[in-house]
Amino acid sequence: MDQTAEKKLVGEAAAAYVEDGMIVGLGTGSTVYFTILKLAERVQKEKLTIQAVSTSKRTTELAEANGIKIYDLNDVPKVDLTIDGCDEFDPQLSGIKGGGGALLFEKIVATASDKNIWVADSSKAVEQLGRFPLPVEVLPFGAQHLFRLFEKEGLKPVFRTNPDGSPYMTDSGNWIIDLHLGRIDDPETLSSWLNGQPGVIENGLFLNIADCVILANGENVKTLKRDV
Ligand code: A5P
Repeated sequence: MDQTAEKKLVGEAAAAYVEDGMIVGLGTGSTVYFTILKLAERVQKEKLTIQAVSTSKRTTELAEANGIKIYDLNDVPKVDLTIDGCDEFDPQLSGIKGGGGALLFEKIVATASDKNIWVADSSKAVEQLGRFPLPVEVLPFGAQHLFRLFEKEGLKPVFRTNPDGSPYMTDSGNWIIDLHLGRIDDPETLSSWLNGQPGVIENGLFLNIADCVILANGENVKTLKRDV
């Protein structure tokens, strides 16, 4: 089974967790794409009444094009359930997100959610975080100085760029520096250090956030739950 088929399998499976009346957070990416389409189908067929909040412009456009109205996060009291993808996750269900550039809104929505489900194809499961470059969202003002600091600290930073070489810009107008770490031995310390640097808006380490991961392994679907 190829990766897209695995994404479709788990993406669609996650849509079953949405119940009538819920306030639902919609993540961003190529796996949750299938969740959104399936959820739109359920809303229409089962006449579900849900309120959805979005984690990116991309997701808002996809949801609304398929008949799911998006609410402003400020206008909902909380989020019952958020379904999102990830770039990698470890056995504790900590993960790296932001490969698609939506880490800031994703983290805000996730932390406002009672429950977080991640959907993952088999390539996302790792023993230790860090193989996937860690995205750090930074304010453009003075970002070169942060870049040099990251270099000095041996964090192997690379500015994310568009195909034409211009800086990649997030939905909030910030830039992303990807850290090519290879392995992250102490994610908590790294996350706190990064977020403590002036100019860093947020980093892509999502620690103790996912309650479960719906993981594809070929045609099989496994649900992994975080020990709490
Ligand atoms: C968006 O910035 C990311 O955090 C995505 O949630 C993540 O990259 C999802 O990956 P897939 O596209 O493989 O689902």
